[in-house]
Amino acid sequence: MKKIELDAGYLKSTISKEDLAALEDQVQKAHYDLHNETGKGNDFVGWVNQPRDFDQEELEKVEKTAKKIRENTDIFVVAGIGGSYLGAKAGIEMLTPFFYNDSKEIRGKAPKVYFAGHHLSGRYLEELLKVLDEGEVSINIISKSGTTTEPAVAFRVLKDYMENRYGKKEAAKRIVATTDREKGALKELADKEGYETFIVPDDIGGRYSVLSPVGMLPMAVAGINVEEIVKGAKDAYSQLLEPELKKNPCYEYSAYRNILYRKGKKIEILGNFDPRLTFFGEWFKQLFGESEGKEGKGIFPATLNFTTDLHSMGQYIQEGERTIFETVLKVGDEESEISIEKDHKNLDGLNYLVGKTFGEINEKALQGTLEAHHDGGIPAMILTLPKIDAYYFGYMVYFFMKACGISGYLLGVNPFDQPGVEAYKKNMFRLLGKE
Ligand code: PA5
Repeated sequence: MKKIELDAGYLKSTISKEDLAALEDQVQKAHYDLHNETGKGNDFVGWVNQPRDFDQEELEKVEKTAKKIRENTDIFVVAGIGGSYLGAKAGIEMLTPFFYNDSKEIRGKAPKVYFAGHHLSGRYLEELLKVLDEGEVSINIISKSGTTTEPAVAFRVLKDYMENRYGKKEAAKRIVATTDREKGALKELADKEGYETFIVPDDIGGRYSVLSPVGMLPMAVAGINVEEIVKGAKDAYSQLLEPELKKNPCYEYSAYRNILYRKGKKIEILGNFDPRLTFFGEWFKQLFGESEGKEGKGIFPATLNFTTDLHSMGQYIQEGERTIFETVLKVGDEESEISIEKDHKNLDGLNYLVGKTFGEINEKALQGTLEAHHDGGIPAMILTLPKIDAYYFGYMVYFFMKACGISGYLLGVNPFDQPGVEAYKKNMFRLLGKE
């Protein structure tokens, strides 16, 4: 399998070899801190060796449950927020066909997949309940703490719906809970109601949990080959083990980010040229935002979908404040043959494109964009993934999680906690009169 490659050509005018070399010792320290569990937040680094020590038995249980769900379900609802939703959503958007939910022919035997509990819109939930009436339903409620308000309130409504529709006993068979091994309200509820449960490992935080049942069960239900995801993550694990900066593209990426940040580039845009990667960007935003944004520090992670956003944010990137750098995800193989046909009248003036595929046009858009942004003073890196498939999803997930851990250590923060998330909750609970 080809590796994911990092091209730093567009950083040359911003970062010198000396800048990079100066970080070598810090990167190696970060590497050893991560692998020897001697760094900040070391009780949450279970994801580091997860691909190497992969729990195959649990994956088989995930696949078995997914098969059962696929057999008796038309509509599958995943209720969770943050790390308990974004990984699965990113994988499903990236690896299932476009229009998956819209067409039975496209979906085949897999159920439609909807998400809930990732915001507090009552309207959304009300309308979702109407959709649920259109077929047989199963639910996966995911919450590591088991106490997060958004999924908890959505689940209370969904549980009522299921019990009213199927009766308590059958409803319980159609609900799967993914939560902590022993603590939390959800664990208690699941035990009491007799739901099948999956465990979020103690030493893996939400945003690092994609390779656990948190991400794997919803993806398996959607028909994604989760074994391939594991293979990709395993290869990423072994190919990104080298402590030396120059031999490890993942560490190089972390080092470049850190240097750019110290040179005043406070915003990173993860840009993609393929709409299948839109939610991968959302997952990335949470991963880096929650991991690095603390103690008054941190790169602000943003994500843009090109070429769409060139017609909205393109102006700002080209000529706005110069505090941005870009990381562009480039896909090697577009896998579509659709091309521009000749039109004798040529009223739209597009005959210069005759014979070109959309992939070829998109590729030129990518090159043109990078050149323009470079000329406009935006340093950029290109990460090329050979193709979009389950293997490279697993590879990329591990690549970015490791890059994030190393980046957090280079910044001097604990990349595995999120104390700031509590602030809004405290206020909301007070305003809602929680005792
Ligand atoms: O990364 C994290 O830890 C958070 O984003 C959590 O995943 C998110 O807050 C949801 O938490 P929980 O799974 O406990 O409901």
